[in-house]
Amino acid sequence: METELLSADIAGIEKAAELIKKGELVGMPTETVYGLAADACNQQAVAKIFAAKGRPADNPLIVHIADISELQNLCDDIPELAYRLAGKFWPGPLTMILKKKSSVPDITSGGLDTVGIRMPSHPAALMLIEKSGLPLAAPSGNISGYPSPTKAEHMMRDMKGRISAVIDGGECSVGVESTVISFENDNTVRILRPGGVTRDDLLEEAENVIIDPAILHEISEGQTVRSPGMKYQHYSPKARVIMVEGGYESFCRYVNENSHEGVYAIVFEDDNKGMLRVPSVSYGCDDREQAHMIFSRLREMDSLGAEKVYVMAPKAEGVGLAVYNRLIRAAGFEVIQV
Ligand code: TXA
Ligand code: MG
Repeated sequence: METELLSADIAGIEKAAELIKKGELVGMPTETVYGLAADACNQQAVAKIFAAKGRPADNPLIVHIADISELQNLCDDIPELAYRLAGKFWPGPLTMILKKKSSVPDITSGGLDTVGIRMPSHPAALMLIEKSGLPLAAPSGNISGYPSPTKAEHMMRDMKGRISAVIDGGECSVGVESTVISFENDNTVRILRPGGVTRDDLLEEAENVIIDPAILHEISEGQTVRSPGMKYQHYSPKARVIMVEGGYESFCRYVNENSHEGVYAIVFEDDNKGMLRVPSVSYGCDDREQAHMIFSRLREMDSLGAEKVYVMAPKAEGVGLAVYNRLIRAAGFEVIQV
């Protein structure tokens, strides 16, 4: 199959919308990461998403909408708090898990009776949803297990020959996937996956915000999880990733002592360049920069042929909690304290 690279203008998006209406797959830019989009209510189209990604059938997809009124066509028993959060954070990087209506096929929800809904803020995503006139199911557009795509070229690398088109909407501004929440009661939400909307942000509307323990800890075998995505190996480049917690000097000392051919480092701003004796790239100094760059840096390691990558652990605060959550999974929970 030819995969066409479309520009994010009206002509490109109209073409993509026609493909979606025919049940085809399109790479869609969003403010978080690129998604692999299809008509959420067309079972054959959704089956193609699972096949193209190599995604386990029990891992549900997020459904993307462009208008809040669509919520009641897809979900039942929507709490008042959900409307308040939507009012505050949509369009944007927040996914809410709600009870699904039968209009959402079981294949889309991975067999669950709930569905994750989000309204993205990227103008190309909103226009694609509007032009196709359909809610769009879209997981991150990577091959299952690999780092999520944050540029059209990442989507092309993973999906070329497997899908009809990719819309080039530039680099994703947030860079990590949306915050996924569920509702515990009228005023309490639980973060199942941290993202661009932080715990402090949510506390502006919700009285209590629980951070699910699975965000920072490994799932033990047989443990039940609240979100199927928590069980799977994620975000890993081919290179072995090791997260290192400690200051820059101790980091450099440790990496230098363990350096050999094929070892690389991902650090904050490299202002003390002489110290590190392995090749390194920076992923920025603060949580927003780190979120913006991390997936791109992990992919870059494979292009460079890295075998082992030591990454300076980010502060697990603000959006940094999302970066920490992705890295600890990329590292298969291999963390070294120095
Ligand atoms: O930012 C994002 O959310 C991106 C863009 C494309 O919108 N999408 C994305 O989708 O990251 P995906 O499929 O890669 O991750 C969705 C996560 C998975 O971990 C899945 O298990 C969880 O959300 N999820 C989806 N529906 C769920 C549900 N009904 N209950 C619990 N967890 C759910
Ligand atoms: Mg994903």
